[in-house]
Amino acid sequence: MLLGESGYPLKRLADPHCCPQEERPPYHRSKKGGSLGVCYLSMGTVVLLMGLVFASVYIYRYFFLAQLARDNFFHCGVLYEDSLSSQVRTRMELEEDVKIYLEENYERINVPVPQFGGGDPADIIHDFQRGLTAYHDISLDKCYVIELNTTIVLPPRNFWELLMNVKRGTYLPQTYIMQEEMVVTEHVSDKEALGSFIYHLCNGKDTYRLRRRATRRRINKRGAKNCNAIRHFENTFVVETLICGVV
Ligand SMILES: *[C@@H]1O[C@H](CO)[C@@H](O)[C@H](O)[C@H]1NC(C)=O
Repeated sequence: MLLGESGYPLKRLADPHCCPQEERPPYHRSKKGGSLGVCYLSMGTVVLLMGLVFASVYIYRYFFLAQLARDNFFHCGVLYEDSLSSQVRTRMELEEDVKIYLEENYERINVPVPQFGGGDPADIIHDFQRGLTAYHDISLDKCYVIELNTTIVLPPRNFWELLMNVKRGTYLPQTYIMQEEMVVTEHVSDKEALGSFIYHLCNGKDTYRLRRRATRRRINKRGAKNCNAIRHFENTFVVETLICGVV
């Protein structure tokens, strides 16, 4: 049986259980037309209200989800004291786009071409599911993979909370920069083993494994000839990742 668009509510209106007209004593007959009208009217109101409730639930869900999706995308700028590039400490600004995937448990960061030197543009993925970080150095068009360092990278939920606080105006105060140095170890041929998010980032690019260099020597511009730098943040401070021995 096909129910027309108005078929359902009309059927409900004619339902005797809704309007107990049969139980009315005979002497109320004259009033029956009036009470029936009230009954139809209230049924109509109920149907209308139900429609309104469904419509508002739908609209709420639609806008709420849209809002949530928007809230997972951040365009961020942070001011930091650059103690690495020169003897004189200078105030620098780092910009990046952050996309946080709470369900899938990973973060994606895009560092655009920095305005005043200070590193290469890059796409970065921190995959907490796999425990891996991948840097795609855009100017070299090469990909570098290393174990995720959870003391530097905030997990998606915490990073999201930090950025929401920044957005609400509890702005990140001027911060500092720290440096880490990585060395290229080997070429990666099986990129599918890196998980689908990093696979999509690094597919079609030369990809290398990195190892953290333990020495804490400060690397200046001269000593870093064979290194490429990426400046980024996924915590309350800025990190310069030096990728050295670039093949
Ligand atoms: C993570 O980073 C910190 C700070 O640079 C460093 O001390 C630590 O050794 C790193 N841990 C791993 C597992 O790489």
